[in-house]
Amino acid sequence: MTELERKHDRTPVPKDWAYAPAPEARDIVALRERYGHFIGGEWVEPRETYTTISPATEESLAEVGQATPEEVQAAVAAARGAFEDGWSDISPAERAKYLFRIARILQERSREFAVLESLNGGKPIKESRDVDLPLSAAHFFYYAGWADKLEYAFPNRRPRPIGVAGQIIPWNFPLLMLAWKIAPALAAGNTVVLKPAETTPLSALHFCDVLRQAELPAGVVNIVTGDGRTGAEIVKSEGVDKIAFTGSTEVGKAIQRELAGTGKKLTLELGGKAANIIFDDAALDQAVEGIINGIYFNQGHVCCAGSRLLVQESIYEPVVEKLKRRLTTLRVGDPLDKNTDVGAINSKQQLDKIHELVAAGEKEGAEIYQPPCRLPEKGYWFAPTVFTNVAQSYRIAQEEIFGPVLSILTFRTPEEAVEKANNTPYGLSAGVWTEKGSRILWMAERLRAGVVWANTYNRFDPSSPFGGYKESGFGREGGRHGLEPYLDFDGSG
Ligand code: NAI
Ligand code: MG
Repeated sequence: MTELERKHDRTPVPKDWAYAPAPEARDIVALRERYGHFIGGEWVEPRETYTTISPATEESLAEVGQATPEEVQAAVAAARGAFEDGWSDISPAERAKYLFRIARILQERSREFAVLESLNGGKPIKESRDVDLPLSAAHFFYYAGWADKLEYAFPNRRPRPIGVAGQIIPWNFPLLMLAWKIAPALAAGNTVVLKPAETTPLSALHFCDVLRQAELPAGVVNIVTGDGRTGAEIVKSEGVDKIAFTGSTEVGKAIQRELAGTGKKLTLELGGKAANIIFDDAALDQAVEGIINGIYFNQGHVCCAGSRLLVQESIYEPVVEKLKRRLTTLRVGDPLDKNTDVGAINSKQQLDKIHELVAAGEKEGAEIYQPPCRLPEKGYWFAPTVFTNVAQSYRIAQEEIFGPVLSILTFRTPEEAVEKANNTPYGLSAGVWTEKGSRILWMAERLRAGVVWANTYNRFDPSSPFGGYKESGFGREGGRHGLEPYLDFDGSG
């Protein structure tokens, strides 16, 4: 509080009622007016640009490049040069050193990056501060540890780097997805061309300054910005040996078609429609917190979000009642306010998609509930939403909404829960809430999902592999498994 003035003997009155600035205030990030592409350790002036905005206010934040085919080729050539010119041959312990440095710098600059992530992406500061930033640094620390132990990670297989990795990432966890992609690629001795999503380029561009501080050799990491056209250019570039993609199933399929027969390696991390399954013996209050975290975390822009709630019939009413009550306490608003639970929707395009699917749910006959809340006038917002009376065939039970919208279905027996949970083209994640350990194992064996959480949801750790089945993609990120797509082995490739 500011200096106090004494009006009477005993009554302190503040001089003014303004709050002291929060440690995560907007002005700790210095943005440039215009960013180029980061190629060969230098900023290259872009030929074409567009404006990136804050989805919470629609204000312009900076001009960034829309990379042309020539600019993409320049980035690929820089990565190839750096790979052949030393990076693939330096001692693995030396490679680890750079990864450790990057991890430490991210920790030191975490406030700044957290604010930037919330500003450009719309996510609540408490999430970027407590989830995105710590996990991004943890990922670099974790893979730094593997860099000089690859022979132990894959005994008798003689692992060696592949070459140049092209990496295309989405907008829901911009810096964290960058860390998931870059850390294992570098630990394995590859060089990188990475493209952030068009709506959230700023943290990746800011990260180039971390690379400079860490003194990473020029060309080892190159960042080009732009939309899907730039991404497609990376995919078809002949100088790229491996593509790692996270995003929509539609684009993932197109990339798979493009790469068929080229011999390039590919990993895809695509959409999801996860079931969060609540049995009648679960601790209900904890389960309700898990449901909330499962679908309203990051505005529901989460590929593994628990978007289909399966509740055992005998506890349907108390669960729905508790859930609705809890929903009224969620605070929707300014992403930079540390009390905010649900921030802004990432883009107009995503907001339109949510509106379309929610309208379809109402039309098909589901019952909608939204707590009373006042949404800001500017920016892109959607109130936390619950649908009851949902049939499995409805679009809101089938399609990924990627927004703060939950569909509730019921089941009677564990067999029925498994059948409904697996009744989806996706298979990324699932949640199981029950007091019975044996039932957790029984369910985990039968759920066709890459990750199954038990009595928790949306937990991540760099040592734990993450990835999907079916239309959720293939390949794993995280853990020892996450190194494999970035390596060639004796007898392969
Ligand atoms: P998207 O798949 O179009 O975009 C993801 C990334 O791919 C971005 O960097 C984009 O520029 C790039 N891209 C787009 N077209 C490309 C192409 N032809 N070749 C190479 N790269 C390309 O996803 P979008 O349109 O932003 O979102 C649509 C839906 O996809 C969302 O509503 C959500 O359902 C799903 N999605 C899933 C994500 C996940 O984490 N699995 C992340 C983002 C979106
Ligand atoms: Mg798209």
